[in-house]
Amino acid sequence: MTERTFSIIKPDATRRNLTGAVNAVIEGAGLRIVAQRRIKLTEAQAKKFYEVHAERPFYGELVSQMTAEPVVVQVLEGPNAVAAYREVMGATNPEQAAEGTIRKQFALSIGENSVHGSDSLENAGIEIAQFFTDDQIVG
Ligand code: CMP
Repeated sequence: MTERTFSIIKPDATRRNLTGAVNAVIEGAGLRIVAQRRIKLTEAQAKKFYEVHAERPFYGELVSQMTAEPVVVQVLEGPNAVAAYREVMGATNPEQAAEGTIRKQFALSIGENSVHGSDSLENAGIEIAQFFTDDQIVG
């Protein structure tokens, strides 16, 4: 089934000029970038986006890293896009990420892990709506 998922290219990747390299892996996996914008997340946006992790010990550092420098927010479309992108990203911890995945190639650490991708179709819809209106997504 054709799905849409939400992606963030994180500050550790934008800082190292890796936006194009990450996008090449995404497109090489058959996912289409149907919306994309480079922004600086506000603290309020980052806190809301990662609200589910609010009680985790890394929450404060996560919010400060995500707001320190620009990110690229994206909508990706393709067959089973949610699962397909999670496979392309690789494990959250880059040491456990499979060869060829974005995190294996580019991530610096579990915190600075280069990309975010939605973990379910339901969350994809919620996350996309936080950054894009329907008319900004061109499939
Ligand atoms: P992400 O997929 O964006 O979802 C939550 C983020 O928290 C995760 O990627 C990491 O960037 C960050 N993080 C930092 N430490 C941890 C940890 N120990 N476990 C999971 N996520 C972590």
